[in-house]
Amino acid sequence: MKTINLSHKIDAVFVGLGYIGLPTAAFAAFKGLNILGVDINPKVVDTINLGEIHIVEPKLESIVKEVISSGKLRVSVKPENAEAYFIVVPTPFKQNHRADISYVESATRTVIPLLKEGDLFVIESTSPVMTTEKITELIWKERPELKDKIYIAYCPERVLPGNVIYELEYNDRVIGGINPASTQKAIEFYIQFVKGTLHPTNACTAEMCKLTENSSRDVQIAFANELSMICDKAGINVWELIKLANKHPRVNVLQPGCGVGGHCIAVDPWFIVSDYPEQAQIIKRSRETNDYKSDWCANRVLKACKQFELDNGCEPVVACMGLAFKPNIDDLRESPAMYITSRIISEVNAEVLVVEPNINVHKTFNITDYKEAYDKADIIVWLVAHAPFFKLEKDSSKLELDFCGIRK
Ligand SMILES: NC(=O)c1ccc[n+]([C@@H]2O[C@H](COP(=O)([O-])OP(=O)(O)OC[C@H]3O[C@@H](n4cnc5c(N)ncnc54)[C@H](O)[C@@H]3O)[C@@H](O)[C@H]2O)c1
Repeated sequence: MKTINLSHKIDAVFVGLGYIGLPTAAFAAFKGLNILGVDINPKVVDTINLGEIHIVEPKLESIVKEVISSGKLRVSVKPENAEAYFIVVPTPFKQNHRADISYVESATRTVIPLLKEGDLFVIESTSPVMTTEKITELIWKERPELKDKIYIAYCPERVLPGNVIYELEYNDRVIGGINPASTQKAIEFYIQFVKGTLHPTNACTAEMCKLTENSSRDVQIAFANELSMICDKAGINVWELIKLANKHPRVNVLQPGCGVGGHCIAVDPWFIVSDYPEQAQIIKRSRETNDYKSDWCANRVLKACKQFELDNGCEPVVACMGLAFKPNIDDLRESPAMYITSRIISEVNAEVLVVEPNINVHKTFNITDYKEAYDKADIIVWLVAHAPFFKLEKDSSKLELDFCGIRK
């Protein structure tokens, strides 16, 4: 792979080259912009500079190869002078569920010395309301001469992992500046590679918009999860019930599962709850319901194991089917299936077979082939609705606990 030094101007610097930053930087370069990607992790930088990628995302590798080779994208551990800067670093939560914006602050600090009049500075990281204002104050404090002379905006990302390249281009985006001129300047940047509509607003509304989208999903999933537990008590098949309820022209109940995972829906609602504890009643309750659902599932498995022992005089073999946080991916971040599996392993004496068809090797779990596990186990615990699982024919000699609708 040839490395070309960009002697011409850099249009934009993207700080943070993970699941969101790398595809965005690469796609903007693919659309003709001169981009510098920055990451503090030198391994990430070395990998990308070779035209390779460190994350799993369809279509990304060929784009990265092309833009690295053409010199449109260059990657470094340090930002350089440019006309626009984008912050795309993680925003996890702390022990108390408060957002940790320290990554955004430290990424911003690396850019502050480079800022000059007329530059654009955008935060893309999912952030609590008022983060853009706090970061603006930080910038003004360090560079008072630039007050009101640079453009600052917030523009959240809403792409779906697995379909990121398409959605980067075609999704609508919400863009909120600290003033109308900043909003306009940011729109002028994104319009160069986004075909979706760019919706102008202010920074706080844009911040809240991202949190609202993920909280909305969380609340709706909590409703389905609550229904699943009610139906279990009432002896009603929840899958049939939801299918029938959704025949109503204005009802759309989502599907229940073994909890909610991933680093967005399971995390972002807390950014609202921790800042607005008195007002955010439903959002908080939904977060708790979705977490509770995972313990409810684990407890059901433990009870079934005890019953098996009483009935058969020996411990069962249990197969935990799926570890990922949603179907057909390998991402285990905040995964309820992984949490349930860990609880089963530590709380029962039984042999537990761990299945995850999208992962070959794991540092904690011994991964078993799904067919082999199904054949060998006495109790089958369906945790994630991965596509291959639907092909397994039901063996009525086994007890199946279906938390994700494989047998619906
Ligand atoms: N992944 C998604 O599906 C998704 C979707 C929408 C929004 N978001 C949000 O986008 C943001 C980024 O998420 P992600 O999934 O890309 O994270 P990620 O963990 O995949 O990548 C973040 C990258 O930033 C780098 N980094 C951290 N601090 C840095 C610093 N000071 N300077 C330079 N690089 C630094 C890390 O080394 C890492 O490579 C988060 O706020 C997330 O909530 C993510």
